[in-house]
Amino acid sequence: MSDGARASIIDGKATAERLRARIGAAVKRLKADHGLTPGLAAVLVGEDPASEIYVRNKGRATEAAGMASFTHRLAADSDQGALIDLVRSLNTDDSVNAILVQLPLPDHIDADRVTEALDPAKDVDGFHLINVGRLSAGVGGGLVPCTPQGCVMLLKDALGALAGLHAVILGRSNLVGKPLAQLLLGENCTVTIAHSRTRNLAAETVRGDILVAAVGRPALVKGSWIKPGAAVIDVGINRMEGVAGKSRLVGDVDFDQAVTVAGHITPVPGGVGPMTIACLLRNTLIATAAQAGLPAPEI
Ligand code: GUN
Repeated sequence: MSDGARASIIDGKATAERLRARIGAAVKRLKADHGLTPGLAAVLVGEDPASEIYVRNKGRATEAAGMASFTHRLAADSDQGALIDLVRSLNTDDSVNAILVQLPLPDHIDADRVTEALDPAKDVDGFHLINVGRLSAGVGGGLVPCTPQGCVMLLKDALGALAGLHAVILGRSNLVGKPLAQLLLGENCTVTIAHSRTRNLAAETVRGDILVAAVGRPALVKGSWIKPGAAVIDVGINRMEGVAGKSRLVGDVDFDQAVTVAGHITPVPGGVGPMTIACLLRNTLIATAAQAGLPAPEI
């Protein structure tokens, strides 16, 4: 798109609002037909300001969808055993269908040990090895991580079927890059994962019909890194010093450059972020139905 045309903006906020409305309607049906109210418990250890905001927003969204929200706060110096005991008590609490332990955890806690203590059926982040394994094996029936799920929904909305497209994912994290690769393989994409040790990153990214940036490096991806007409999904949420001491959010993509090259692009904020919360609510609903032996709700 070098002829003055600009990419169409993928409106994650509007898509997430529609998804949340459908989830709210499905929650009403679950209550009316089966007397079930989905419950999501969020666990926050310490006082990381960004995590505080995320957990508060998740709690509000949960209640707005007609679900029960529980928040458990532990002091920053809590020991790992206390956190695992809390997770185990939530595993056996019938009012809790979904558990989320907010990351990052303090350094003295081994996040992998905590994740493995979760009941996989309540692991709405999709981080437990059982859920990771189900996604990798493509067997279904597991819970899928929320951010990559949101990315795929936005891509399908923008492009329709993804089969045969070359998707380049920048970033290999367990939260986004790796599960997203599995989801896009499931959509029959050709998938490349590029990362900080990849030689000549731009030579890889410019090949993608789809380019997803999930590395946490502000404005790393330049216009010249993007295939003309590509769909660009920016997962980055980097807080930068703005004017007059105010902070502003910047993605991993240099938006002003990318918008003149890409065919479709997500903004930051208002792109992937709102979809992550909507997918968390979707997972909570799916987990609740599965635990009651009901078929996956129509949403
Ligand atoms: N911290 C940043 N993103 C996430 C997420 O998706 N889940 C959890 N539990 N913590 C996070």
